[in-house]
Amino acid sequence: MTSTQAPSSANENWGSRIGLILAMAGNAVGLGNFLRFPSQAANNGGGSFMIAYFTAFLLLGIPLMWVEWGIGRNAGRYRKGHVPGMFAALWKHPAAKYLGVIGLTVPLVVMIYYTYIESWTLAFTVFSATSDYFGNNTQEAMVGYLQSYQMIGDDSVHGMWKPFVFFFITLVINIWVVSRGISAGIEKLARIGMPILFFFAAILAVVILTMDPLTPGGPSPADGLNFIFNPDFSQLSRPGLWLAAAGQIFFTLSVGMGTLQAYASYLTKKDDLVLSGLATAATNETAEVVLGGSIAIPAAVVFFGVAGAMQVASSGSFNIGFATMPVVFQQLPLGNVLGVMWFGLLFFAGITSSVAMATPIVAFFREEFGIRRETVAWGLGGVVMIFGLLQIFWLQYGMLDEWDYWAGTFGLVLFASIEVVLFMWVFKPERAWESLHQGADIRLPRIFKFVMTYITPLYLFTILVWWGVTDAWPILTMEKTPGGAPPDPANVPFVHASRAILALIVVTFVVLVRLAWKRNRYDDRTGFTESITGSAQ
Ligand code: ALA
Repeated sequence: MTSTQAPSSANENWGSRIGLILAMAGNAVGLGNFLRFPSQAANNGGGSFMIAYFTAFLLLGIPLMWVEWGIGRNAGRYRKGHVPGMFAALWKHPAAKYLGVIGLTVPLVVMIYYTYIESWTLAFTVFSATSDYFGNNTQEAMVGYLQSYQMIGDDSVHGMWKPFVFFFITLVINIWVVSRGISAGIEKLARIGMPILFFFAAILAVVILTMDPLTPGGPSPADGLNFIFNPDFSQLSRPGLWLAAAGQIFFTLSVGMGTLQAYASYLTKKDDLVLSGLATAATNETAEVVLGGSIAIPAAVVFFGVAGAMQVASSGSFNIGFATMPVVFQQLPLGNVLGVMWFGLLFFAGITSSVAMATPIVAFFREEFGIRRETVAWGLGGVVMIFGLLQIFWLQYGMLDEWDYWAGTFGLVLFASIEVVLFMWVFKPERAWESLHQGADIRLPRIFKFVMTYITPLYLFTILVWWGVTDAWPILTMEKTPGGAPPDPANVPFVHASRAILALIVVTFVVLVRLAWKRNRYDDRTGFTESITGSAQ
């Protein structure tokens, strides 16, 4: 048993170490591993992307994973499972809590659109079981089928009600899990969902990798693997490649989202962070590179060739998963069983991540306003429902892309840059290092201390500035969209409205944080008192 006491929200703890690792891995392994990764790899030249990807994994991903676990556990001593409290525990300054607002905004905003995408996977699991899309056996026909479901263009294939019903069901399952708490809800879900996910992914990988070429001498699964893993060094001078790779590492590991910290706040001083953090990162990479890399791209290459797969990937980030894969399944024996496995695994990958996004928000309202967990969870469900409906209606006008860019891409890097400075510089490297090693099963080589203090922040600031100049500014001023194309004038009012809602969410959290500090009479200069339950540490 790893956690014996609940230092964060009262009476909350992880049931076992394996449960914790499965939940942390469930938090990280998500739609990003199986949908975003293949698209990013195909769009950015395959093998060359992988070099930038592994560099970002070593210098950003793993160090930030430890930083986030460290920040979370440190805050658990004061029963803080939310980022404003975590930052205030590191830096005794009035501004700390407001910087932490980004750690409430990012998970809420990402949860809203992520749960919506997750609901497509539930819908497509049902459509696979009922062979509903069978007959749409070309790429174009499947894209039309998907878009009809998304209420883009021709809506005659699906009734208008379907996206709403599947979104509602998905959200209710999420909130029900969250309302049951850390051990009985989130950990239990991970114990069931993660083995199923890996089992389905392993079967699909074997089926795809053993496929014969469609015509003698035609593209084989090995060509797909070659495309992903054979580097073309000439591409490495392209800045966009490095930015895309770093963005993928953030999204896939759930770094910069406030969720790993929230999970870690339920750990005690006796628990190991170092090996467990590494195990989480390794599990995520196995799911992403070994399994994620062995399914969608090799399948797309066998059916459409390398050029065709790249074209599909660039035509929309969801097309490989929701259009190409169903076309492939229709050609294979037991295609609908394979379809259920594919979309079922996506659903489990998604839900074990979206419940994590709810965790810091639930912790904030419980800890600071004393509201019951169930009440906060269902209240949060109401908020996600309202904005989720807007996502459904405005998908075609670019709302999802806009939120994914500002919260799910730029927001993650911004958040990570702030937290690494607070933990490694303000809290000080020696304390950070010592706090990471409390209860540790292994000691890290000291080079990582150097990496975490200097290299990771430098890498982050370079990305932030580079991204700011090449991407964020032109997107903000509407010279281009997050996808790179010039904005469609018809979408501009919706983009403005989407941004106004984001700003409103930030302002609301700033006000709530202020109220919480007043209500609980926290003194920014003296910091929090260690919790009694936390004294077990
Ligand atoms: N880390 C989660 C994913 O990959 C958010 O989808």
